[in-house]
Amino acid sequence: MKIFVTRIIPSGAVATLQEAGITVDQWQEKRNIGHQELIDICKKYDGLISVGQDLIDRSFLQSCRHLKVIAQMAVGFDNIDVEEATRLGIPIGNTPGVLSKATADTAFLLMMAVSRKAMYMNHKIMRGEWGFYEPTADLGIELHGKTLGIFGLGKIGLEMARLCQGAYGMKIIYCNRNHNPEAENATGARKVNFEELLAFSDVLSVHTALTAQTKGIFNRQAFDQMKKTAIFINTARGSIHNEEDLIEAMRQGSIWGCGLDVTNPEPMQPDNPLLDMPTAVILPHIGSATQQTRAAMAAIAAENILACRKGEPLPYPVNPELYKP
Ligand code: GLV
Repeated sequence: MKIFVTRIIPSGAVATLQEAGITVDQWQEKRNIGHQELIDICKKYDGLISVGQDLIDRSFLQSCRHLKVIAQMAVGFDNIDVEEATRLGIPIGNTPGVLSKATADTAFLLMMAVSRKAMYMNHKIMRGEWGFYEPTADLGIELHGKTLGIFGLGKIGLEMARLCQGAYGMKIIYCNRNHNPEAENATGARKVNFEELLAFSDVLSVHTALTAQTKGIFNRQAFDQMKKTAIFINTARGSIHNEEDLIEAMRQGSIWGCGLDVTNPEPMQPDNPLLDMPTAVILPHIGSATQQTRAAMAAIAAENILACRKGEPLPYPVNPELYKP
């Protein structure tokens, strides 16, 4: 079996595959592979480990219908036309669970950094502006006892809820299609509708998947319904918020601050106005970027490949319906 990997990934997973007799080739260049280029490359392989946001759309899948497996090294799979893959009988895997804590840590980091204007204050030092002490200048806001609103309370949202409750005794509300009894028992989280989430959250943290329903849902109208003192956090996907509307909401003071680990587009351009705002903190999509988590994600991608080679169902399938009789 020959596998192509679209980035260099942690070596442990590569070794596991090689020890099983699988040939593994990794893309070595520091640029995204073009769509047709990836199709041409995949012609020579039996399986693909997709890392990042490779566009695995209908035309890719139709041209690469020979692939026996596509293992996504991420939990999100909005870059993949799963319906078409299922129609063509191609199993798709992802890496759920192992990145929940690291991603929630990133959301928590953003929340704290925004609440104390941490990046802006750090930049002031670099600009030589650590000058006269003014007790009323550049003040942050406290998080103790505030309400955390979670949009999309799954594994990552639950970890964020736990962190915020443990650190600051925050009350948890959430907006989901379905109830999350585990989260309700663990944190006392209360399910609310979208309008209530907007109206009552002091910190609103997005942890949902990008779908046709969630795309652009945080728009001008949504920001206008939030508290003027609220902090908006997005560590899920940049397209869930409308970035022009977010910039406008920040400029007009419709919300107090924002922390983004995901932007729209990615990469964010260096002249984006959010980068200069005191109460905005932007990170370059590093939610799962710890040594331990990236190694665990690569290991799961390798497990998915190994299962396919043995002719078994993927242990972490995105389209499990393939295995139903
Ligand atoms: C990262 O964005 C992921 O989906 O794992």
